[in-house]
Amino acid sequence: MAFKRVGVMTGGGDCSGLNAVIRGITRAAIIQHGASVIGIEDGYDGLIFDRHQELTVRSTRDILPWGGTILGTTNKGNPFEYKEFDESGQIVTHDYSKKAIKNFQRLMLDCLFVIGGDGTLQIAHQLNELGVPVMGIPKTIDNDLEGTDYTFGFQTAVQVASDALDRLQTTGRSHQRIMILEVMGRTAGWIALEAGIAGGAHIILIPEIPYQLDKILDKIKVREAGGSPFSVIVVAEGAREVDGEMITSEAATTRLQAVAQLGGVGDYLARNISRRTDLEVRCTVLGHTQRGGTPNSFDRILGTRLGAFAVQAAAEGKFGNMVALRTPNLELVSLATLSGKVRHVPDSSQLIQCAEAIGISLGR
Ligand code: F6P
Repeated sequence: MAFKRVGVMTGGGDCSGLNAVIRGITRAAIIQHGASVIGIEDGYDGLIFDRHQELTVRSTRDILPWGGTILGTTNKGNPFEYKEFDESGQIVTHDYSKKAIKNFQRLMLDCLFVIGGDGTLQIAHQLNELGVPVMGIPKTIDNDLEGTDYTFGFQTAVQVASDALDRLQTTGRSHQRIMILEVMGRTAGWIALEAGIAGGAHIILIPEIPYQLDKILDKIKVREAGGSPFSVIVVAEGAREVDGEMITSEAATTRLQAVAQLGGVGDYLARNISRRTDLEVRCTVLGHTQRGGTPNSFDRILGTRLGAFAVQAAAEGKFGNMVALRTPNLELVSLATLSGKVRHVPDSSQLIQCAEAIGISLGR
């Protein structure tokens, strides 16, 4: 099936490598198929409110190393349940899906490439069910999407976190302190686990394994007794104590937001460790530095491959799928099969076995 005009959009939280995908799609669609490419701006908002720009080989020429997304994004703006404020400041919900579909048709697009996480891809599936030919490209720094081995953006985030750990090692050792690094990872601990191994952390705490403070203190004491009165801890923002709750940051939570903002587990740990030891404790929160900035080469390559492969699949009319990495190949996975479940770090993970084998404590 030949196509003449395709749309591309990014939805949900940004991550490094989005522009590599946009560029890959644009170049493959133009070079292989002579198509024109329309960039939909600000996620589904651009489809609903008709905001777009033409993408060309020239306009995407320099974007490969850029962080963020040249198209803009939002993690609100579900066209089926669009929440906004009315004049009296109350939140109202509208179904703008028909409006979005009408704009898609008015733009005379043959396909919509949707680059996003589980929420964005589920909306893409709903649109597909209503007749919009979509092709999904999965992304999240958390690396917790089902159906794909790795998401682009993840390896860059791991690099940022392990670079930070390298720095915390030297200052922690100099001052004989406990250094805590809080990284992203709402419900899956992939970033903490991989960065912790790469950065030589002594304790790694992930959402999948609720931690016991006593076990953390034991590890710190053993290190101290062995002549290392400093320790480096990496904790995923969604980690929690056995019988405890995830810690949310109310200050960052707004009324239109569907999910609570996490944050504060690093400080919580710092307070509790310093109450129980004589060592000084310091906490660093990496936050959105893990999402911004230039993608590493792995994410540039993966993003470019996914873009080009998505175009090839669309040209074959294989809509309603997402492109996925099944190492070493790319494959198609039906959007209908995605359950929205998070791909957690399994307890049987060889990464966990490796961490524990080399003496890293997981707080259990
Ligand atoms: O899902 C990706 C993610 O980076 C999470 O790790 C984090 O909790 C969340 O997004 C932060 O979202 P926001 O950009 O809305 O603060």
